[in-house]
Amino acid sequence: MGHSAAVWDYRAATEITKDWNGINQFLLRNPQGASARVSLHGGQVTSWRNEHGEELLFTSSKAIFKPPKAMRGGIPICFPQFGNCGSLEQHGFARNKIWTVDDNPPPLHPNDSHGKSFIDLLLKPSEEDQKGWPHSFEFRLRVSLTTDGDLILISRVRNINGKPFSFSFAYHTYLSVSDISEVRIEGLETLDYLDNLCQRERFTEQGDAITFESEMDRVYLSSPNVIAVLDHEKKRTYVIRKEGLPDAVVWNPWDKKSKSMVDFGDEEYKQMLCVDGAAIEKPITLKPGEEWTGRLQLSVVSSSFCSEYLNL
Ligand code: BG6
Repeated sequence: MGHSAAVWDYRAATEITKDWNGINQFLLRNPQGASARVSLHGGQVTSWRNEHGEELLFTSSKAIFKPPKAMRGGIPICFPQFGNCGSLEQHGFARNKIWTVDDNPPPLHPNDSHGKSFIDLLLKPSEEDQKGWPHSFEFRLRVSLTTDGDLILISRVRNINGKPFSFSFAYHTYLSVSDISEVRIEGLETLDYLDNLCQRERFTEQGDAITFESEMDRVYLSSPNVIAVLDHEKKRTYVIRKEGLPDAVVWNPWDKKSKSMVDFGDEEYKQMLCVDGAAIEKPITLKPGEEWTGRLQLSVVSSSFCSEYLNL
C-alpha cells in the first residue's frame, strides 16, 4: 500500500544490502512502492521497478555477477571511453570498478534532493587506472528515485589534474521490452548517425520512427533531449530525458550476435533494447578544475498519454 509522500522518510527508505559478491548495494524506495537498486560495483543500477513491482530494466538470465566485469543488464556506465574507440578496455573502466559512498558530495540543486530517495557514489582513479589513462578525476554519481517513480542519474566529472583531459561517456541503459519487433523509438528521425556495423560510417535516418528487424548498433548525433521508446504490446512508453548528453546510442544485438555473447541468452534480444544518453562524437574536454554534468531521467507512462507528456 502507498504512503503519503509528505511523511515519507526518504533517508530511512534506503536499505543497504550485500550483493552476490558481498559488495554493498543500495535499495531506494518511494512512498508508492517503486524501487531502484544500485551497486558499488560499477556504480551500476541493477534494478528499477514501478509501484506494481514490475522490473523496467533488462538483466540477462545468463548475466555473470562477478567483478571485475560489469553484469549484462541494468545501467552500466561507460567512462572514460565508449566502445573500442581508444586504448582502454571496451566501454572504459568505470563499470568494472568498485565505487565508494560519497558521504559529503558538493551540493546539487535543492530540486535534485527534495522529495527523492537517493544515494551518492564516488569513483577516483587507482594507480592502475592511471597507468592506462594518466588523469586525475573525481566522478560523482547520484542515483535518485522520485515520488513519481522516475529514475534519475546525475554524473559529475571533475578534472583535478594539472592539465586538460577528454573523455566519452554513456549511460548504457538496458530497457526491458515485451517484444522488440513491437517497439518504436521516436525523437531520432532525420538525425545523422554513426553506424557501428559499418565502421562508424555516417548516415542520415530516413524513417518516421526507428523500428527493429535486424541488428542495430548506432550513435545518433546531436539528438533532442527527449526520446520516447514505445512498447505497443505493454502499452507503455519509456521517456528518456537527458542533459549534457548530445548523442543517443541505440543497440540491439539480434540473433547472431546474441549467440556469440556468453552472458546473454540466444533469444533474449527480443526482450531488451539499449538506448543510451551519451557524449561520444565530440568528447568532453575539461580544463584543470572544470566539471562536467550529464543527467538522465527515465520515466514510464501509459502509451495513450505519450504525446501529451512528450509535447510531440
Ligand atoms: C553497445 C555498443 O553500446 O554496447 C556495442 O554499441 C556493444 O557495439 C554493446 O556490443 C555491448 O558492449 P559490452 O562490452 O557490454 O558487451
